[in-house]
Amino acid sequence: MNKQQVKKRIDELILLLLKYAHEYYIDENPSVSDGIYDSLTVELKKFEKQFPDLVSPNSPTQRLVSYALDSFTKVEHSKRMLSLNDVFSEQDVEDWLKRTEKILGPKSHEYFIDIKMDGLACALIYQDGQFIQAVTRGDGYIGEDVTANVKTIKSVPLVLTKVDGFKKSFKGRLEIRGEIIMLKKDFEKLNTQREKEGLPIYANPRNLAAGTIRQLDPSLVAKRPLVFKAYDIILNDKSLKTFMDKYLMLSSVGIVRNKQAVVVGNLKGVFDYIHMWENKRHELPFNTDGLVIKINDLQIYNELGVVGKNPKGAVAYKYPAEEATTKIENIILSIGRTGAVTPIAVFDPVIIAGTTVKHASLHNSDEIVRKDIRLGDTVVIYKAGDIIPQVERVLVELRSKGSQKFNIEKELKSQYPGFHFVRKTDEAVYRLTAKDSPLLLKKAIEHYASRAALDIEGLGESNVSAIVDAGLAKDIADIYLITKDQIRNLERFADLSSDNLHRAIQAKKNPALAKFIYGLGIRHIGAQTAIDLAKHFKTLDNLSQATVDDLLSIEGVGEIVAESIYSWFLDPENSKLLQKFKNLGVLPISESSEKLKLEGLSFAITGTLDGVSRDELIDRLRALGAKFDASVNKYTSYLVVGSEPGGSKIKKAQSYKIKQINQSELKQLIDK
Ligand code: IVH
Repeated sequence: MNKQQVKKRIDELILLLLKYAHEYYIDENPSVSDGIYDSLTVELKKFEKQFPDLVSPNSPTQRLVSYALDSFTKVEHSKRMLSLNDVFSEQDVEDWLKRTEKILGPKSHEYFIDIKMDGLACALIYQDGQFIQAVTRGDGYIGEDVTANVKTIKSVPLVLTKVDGFKKSFKGRLEIRGEIIMLKKDFEKLNTQREKEGLPIYANPRNLAAGTIRQLDPSLVAKRPLVFKAYDIILNDKSLKTFMDKYLMLSSVGIVRNKQAVVVGNLKGVFDYIHMWENKRHELPFNTDGLVIKINDLQIYNELGVVGKNPKGAVAYKYPAEEATTKIENIILSIGRTGAVTPIAVFDPVIIAGTTVKHASLHNSDEIVRKDIRLGDTVVIYKAGDIIPQVERVLVELRSKGSQKFNIEKELKSQYPGFHFVRKTDEAVYRLTAKDSPLLLKKAIEHYASRAALDIEGLGESNVSAIVDAGLAKDIADIYLITKDQIRNLERFADLSSDNLHRAIQAKKNPALAKFIYGLGIRHIGAQTAIDLAKHFKTLDNLSQATVDDLLSIEGVGEIVAESIYSWFLDPENSKLLQKFKNLGVLPISESSEKLKLEGLSFAITGTLDGVSRDELIDRLRALGAKFDASVNKYTSYLVVGSEPGGSKIKKAQSYKIKQINQSELKQLIDK
């Protein structure tokens, strides 16, 4: 970007961030999460660093936005209500401690750590042990009197418990500070109810808690279950030496505070606590985005003082955001093995929840239309835990003027010239039409050879492409017909690698049934469904004969899947393909309990068999895990002897002392 473009972007970012700040601080009704706000701020800071002369006095990086509301009586705080400096990494924590060392000199500390609750700050004032007033943070100096509303919160005691050791505190004024939150379960209950009533649902517990406290009618507040949890007690008592002392006192006087708070002896303890809550925090009954870390010793904490609106003796450790913004650099259209087109957004890489996100599926063209996603858009990406990253929405405010709606048909033409795609009326996806197109065949072979299917080493995208382009395969089964010489003649192969690829293909002639079913690439059949089908039907023949009702009786198989399987086996092209596999000796091993019955055994056959063809018997033996030997060798386990046997096999079997069995003895072996 040149300077002019950067200036334009800075202006847009400032406008948007100010709007978000207004929603957050004044309306207490933000439309975006902290993650989005933070990630746009990071972008703004990056440009301001690059061009310091473009830093505007209006930039949110230059001033702190905080206002008091007008609707409630304003109250001055006895002592300023501070906030905390955010840190985002262990390095940031170490840097914070280095900064404290500059003031205090090298010192080892105990650290007090608590879970940071995601709610709104509130001060409770008690006079001689009686609750008299509740004040919101406001701008830190002046807040709003929300006493009537806070009185409805059951976890706020109207009278403090009298405990001997703390009797003193009951005389005069006592202030308790903490967070008003809504528990996740209560929030979900309220939303379920609203859904039932056809009302719009609330965005998140924090917004709802903040919105509730701003209600002018306390009877409405009483209907919304809020919780107050304290994190500080303000009183001049020499016996209070640490933050933990304060927490113990809070509990003694009957004020709720987090039981998860701990004191650790060193930095390693801090990091251990951070790691411990990284995943476990999702199990807490309330939402949290991080931890509060303080120097436990109150004297040292106070000595460190304040910078801006933050104490120097504490920080808020924020876990990686689960939302961030980035730009869509490209939308590529990927064609799956069934010819379905999936649009994929390629991003300017962004780190979310600790992982770098470079692309995300946009699912189909309807989804693109619904979200109006365009090339070059700044979008919000969401990723939590193991969830696959998703494009949540577009920040339309940051869209460039000349941007055009994404036209999938035009894109298909330009990305796949010469191919034809159709979209059936009842489907959301576009599909490649020409069933025999090389592109589709390449995808089909790649899928067949992929790890979750037959796992054929060396048969990846580029080798498959070379094989298909050279005309060596017209369907998946053809890969077994390719000779070493043919592979060697392809430009990309040396002797050794062509031998290896040939061997790798030939080695996969008896795949597990589930893997083979999956490898066929039947639409809607994922690896797990393939396993369920294999378990249920035991052989490919049984599966091929299954009716839609048979298929529907399997757990996890719905109508779409059942129809897809049924019609796949009805298609004469597919029957031909299966026959070809059989002729080539590609025989999947049954997944049934019989599977292990003949595993490890090998059979040779001589003479004419009764009631079964030689090939059929070989199929059956292989399906039971046995190997078939064309001639007797010293590793052969049994020689099956039919009528009019050939002399040489019998002789060999005798010389190797190999057991000879007739058909009924073989049957006993199988039925055993
Ligand atoms: S201690 C100087 N402990 O987070 C303020 N704050 O970003 C010391 N918060 O203003 C606050 N949970 O409103 C503390 N366990 C906790 C907290 C907590 C939530 C809020 C509080 C504070 C803000 C700082």
